[in-house]
Order: sequence, then structure tokens, then C-alpha cells
Amino acid sequence: MPDVFRTNELDAGWRLGFNTADAFNLEIIMAEYVLTATKTQARAGSFYDRIERLYDFTFKVNGYGKSLDQYFEQHPLPVSDNARVLDAGCGTGTLTLALLRNLQVPVKLTAIDLSSSVISTARKYVAKDNPNEQEVRFAQGNVLALPFADEAFDVVVTSGVLEYVPLEEGFTELARVIAPGGYFLHLPMRPSVATRFLELLFRFKTHPPEELAETTDRHFQIVSHYRFPPFQIIGWSKTAVLAHKL
Ligand SMILES: C[S@@+](CC[C@H](N)C(=O)[O-])C[C@H]1O[C@@H](n2cnc3c(N)ncnc32)[C@H](O)[C@@H]1O
Repeated sequence: MPDVFRTNELDAGWRLGFNTADAFNLEIIMAEYVLTATKTQARAGSFYDRIERLYDFTFKVNGYGKSLDQYFEQHPLPVSDNARVLDAGCGTGTLTLALLRNLQVPVKLTAIDLSSSVISTARKYVAKDNPNEQEVRFAQGNVLALPFADEAFDVVVTSGVLEYVPLEEGFTELARVIAPGGYFLHLPMRPSVATRFLELLFRFKTHPPEELAETTDRHFQIVSHYRFPPFQIIGWSKTAVLAHKL
């Protein structure tokens, strides 16, 4: 990987001679990097480029946003002022927008995804719905080769993404960019009938719960494991695990 992408994205922009605004929009350069570095995973990105409308519609009507609001009200994310937060695999922004509605302190939020189409949609939604005017930047990137320096974030959140990649590799890369003392909020899929249907629709593979627990333990200390109420659609297929990087 070119060294320039191992550094903070903003620093990369400066080094390449961009101004700050350009540095926030490095997708074109990143796209080239993403596609050359990760041919297998790039397929998931182009898949979401194709199904972006179906996926976005599904996530608009499934009530996930409200369930996430309720989760964050009951379990505020442990973030301090100006915390650096990464949404890894933001899709069209369901989790990103929930963070923007619920974080009570100013943060610097970065959202990345493999698919440029979903990023464009997420960017539009954030422009309309960012009640606390948080600082948000988007970039195209792969959770297996994040274009950020080690320990670049205080909190990383991810939902519905690690099911597309080998679990240990995904955890290793996400843990790399979390600073010691930082947090990881993971909303993994859990095996169920609803999950089986979603696996076919969205072409992912749920990781076995034992493997998930062991992998989480290897990298983090689990703080809480939340089961969404069964009457919420999100509860049919997902849980929320908050973990601490010691
Ligand atoms: C089911 S969507 C979930 C999106 C969002 N996190 C949410 O909760 O609504 C899965 C997303 O993961 C992205 N994705 C899949 N593999 C990826 C990878 N290796 N790196 C980054 N994003 C990836 C897809 O492009 C897609 O947008």
C-alpha cells in the first residue's frame, strides 16, 4: 500500500498538494487505490453500486433508524469532545445519521464505504439531516485496508459490513485504527430465519456467534452485548456489542 494512504487522510491531502476541502474529498484517488488493492472485496462495493436503490429503500422502511435512536438513548456512546469517530462501511448512512442525531458532543465523523454510489446518497442525507452540524467527511475505502494511520480514531462503529470479509482480518484492521482506551461498537448479524433471507438478498455470510465472541475477545474487552427487542425488525437479525480497546 502506498505510504501516503497509511497516514491521516487530511495529511495525505496536504502532502499531495490539496487544500482542506479537497482533502475531504479524496474519493477519486482513493477509488483507484481501493480497486487495485482489493479486487475481491471490491466486488461487494460494485454489488452495492448496483443494488443501491433497493438497499436504500429497505433501510428506509425497516425502522432501523428509530431502533438505533432508542439504543443510543439508552446506551450513549462513550465519546468526549472532538472525538474522532469512524463509521466503517456506512452504506447510505443509517448508522451515520443515527450518530448525528444522538451524539451530544461535537465530534469529527468519518464515514467510509467501498461503494461510491452509497457514499453519494449518504452524503446527500447528511447534508439534509445533521441537526448538530457535526463535522462529517466521506471517503471510499475498504475495511480490510483502511486509508488511515494506526490509532487514528477514538471510536469505530460498524454495522452489516464485517459479514462481507474474513472476521479476523476485519477485526485486526479496525482495531489497528482505534486508539488505546477507544471503543468499538459492532452491530453483527446473528443467525435467524430473517438473517438467512437477508443473506440471500444482500449476498453476505453471517459469522458463527462463537467465532464472533472469540474474535472480539482477542482484540477488545466487551463492555455490553445488547439484544434489540424482538418486536423491532432490527432485533430479528442484529445485536449490538460495545467493546473497549485496552
Ligand atoms: C448492509 S450495508 C450496511 C450499511 C450501513 N452500515 C448500515 O448499517 O446501514 C453493507 C455495506 O457494507 C459495504 N461494504 C461491504 N464490504 C466492504 C468492505 N470490504 N469495505 C467497506 N465497505 C464494505 C457495502 O458497500 C455496503 O454499503
